[in-house]
Amino acid sequence: MIKNISTTPFEGQKPGTSGLRKKVTVFQQPHYAENFIQSIFDSLQGFTGKTLVIGGDGRYYNREVIQTAIRMAAANGFGRVLTARGGLLSTPAASHLIRKYGAFGGIILSASHNPGGPDGDFGIKYNAGNGGPAPEKLTGEFFANTKKISSYKISDAADCNLDKLGASEIEGMTVEVIDPVSDYQKLMETLFDFDAIRALFKSGFRIRFDAMHAITGPYGHAILEDALGAPKGSVVNGTPLPDFGGHHPDPNLVHAKALYDLMMSAKGPDFGAASDGDGDRNLIIGKNQFVTPSDSLALLAANAHLAPGYSKGLAGVARSMPTSCAVDRVATKLGIKSFETPTGWKFFGNLLDAGMITMCGEESAGTGSNHVREKDGLWAVLLWLNILAKRRQSVADIVKEHWAEYGRNYYSRHDYEEVDADAANRLMKFLRDKLPSLKGEKAGALAVATADDFSYHDIVDGSDTANQGIRIIFDDGSRVIYRLSGTGTAGATLRVYIEKYEAKVLGLETQAALSDLIGFARGLASIAERTGRTEPTVIT
Ligand code: G1P
Ligand code: ZN
Repeated sequence: MIKNISTTPFEGQKPGTSGLRKKVTVFQQPHYAENFIQSIFDSLQGFTGKTLVIGGDGRYYNREVIQTAIRMAAANGFGRVLTARGGLLSTPAASHLIRKYGAFGGIILSASHNPGGPDGDFGIKYNAGNGGPAPEKLTGEFFANTKKISSYKISDAADCNLDKLGASEIEGMTVEVIDPVSDYQKLMETLFDFDAIRALFKSGFRIRFDAMHAITGPYGHAILEDALGAPKGSVVNGTPLPDFGGHHPDPNLVHAKALYDLMMSAKGPDFGAASDGDGDRNLIIGKNQFVTPSDSLALLAANAHLAPGYSKGLAGVARSMPTSCAVDRVATKLGIKSFETPTGWKFFGNLLDAGMITMCGEESAGTGSNHVREKDGLWAVLLWLNILAKRRQSVADIVKEHWAEYGRNYYSRHDYEEVDADAANRLMKFLRDKLPSLKGEKAGALAVATADDFSYHDIVDGSDTANQGIRIIFDDGSRVIYRLSGTGTAGATLRVYIEKYEAKVLGLETQAALSDLIGFARGLASIAERTGRTEPTVIT
């Protein structure tokens, strides 16, 4: 039976953010998840009888909210829900299913790389029919609806069996449980030379893929080990756990330190990689060679033609503003355009839909292409493997050849996490006010050439997005960028991005190469005085 439950308004997803992310305990409040899901449905038009994809990264509370979302989809008139065994879907796999099966949209349950478990984070986001995150117009409507909601519709039917493949029915709506991996694997087979990668593993090449007890475990086992022949055991932490084994499923040098240490040791394999909670991010480390996400994007763009899916070349590339400019140099050489967008994947979607770019990425370990409308961790790993299989050189040699050809963009991000929100806002305001007087300021031998608060004009839909980060560019192209995170769940996180271009001196240690700019960035914003922090919480 369908019930109409009365409820009270709340403050849901902020417009422009990629989903509602809160502590599990917040989502466990009565009506909380229901209110948000109804606020999403109330913003959509014309979905009666259509398909909705529902899946999540397996974190704590995933199963409960999937059942709720299925009951609500039925009560609101969807014709079919497509979900996967255990309710498990990586974010890129969900994006693919929406596209492949012509779904109206999808609900993805994840808080990405944030910790999980009863005291961890949970999240709900909506992806539209193109497979990408809801555009700002829609997230604005979700927000407005959460503030005026008075009731939601839900069926009182029993739980669906998510562990059995096949179809069942609730309130006349079909619920189809499919294998989470197989459609995604088929897509990867169209993009990459699986035979070449198989031959690479056969030759003795070794990989360690750390799934961080998150969603990519099943994908890694099926694709890397079973299909491509990497020895069993190549995929570690491959069973998704509700609390990610107590770890923080963020594939960076802090939270994937064990992988990093192994890759820097004599007994390490040839290639190391990791992915985050919901499988959209990637970490790439060669033997004795960490590859920054910004460099990885540039390298993938320069070598993409070695993979069958990209053999005809790239239409264009895009990077988020704080991402290093390394990919721009590749684009220039290829004679294609490189777009600079605000942080967040949704800005790439329009360019991908319009066919203006083929590949895009962010410094925060997200890389992807036009095969889906999300960043895709395993895709990046497979493209790397395809390139390695064709070039038969070490990661370190490929990286060094790239720098020798294009120069090197030394790059680092310094995060000051959970700082006082008012202090962080005051710091940003101080910088904004100071912009007009920054020209000519010195950082070592460098002088500021331009300074602005980044804004973006979307040439596809004509929209404008302002206040996307303080961007200080020096006369040699070096940059210092400040912005506040939009994804944290406690206090504010100040991110400072530091980049220095070098055409010739390629072998320095990163922090040392950036030291003048780091000193400049800290001094200009009085970071220690304003935040009480003399050092960043995380340096990547
Ligand atoms: C962070 C990353 C950004 C990414 C987003 C979602 O956002 O910096 O590149 O798109 O997560 O994965 P932030 O916390 O900086 O707003
Ligand atoms: Zn993620």
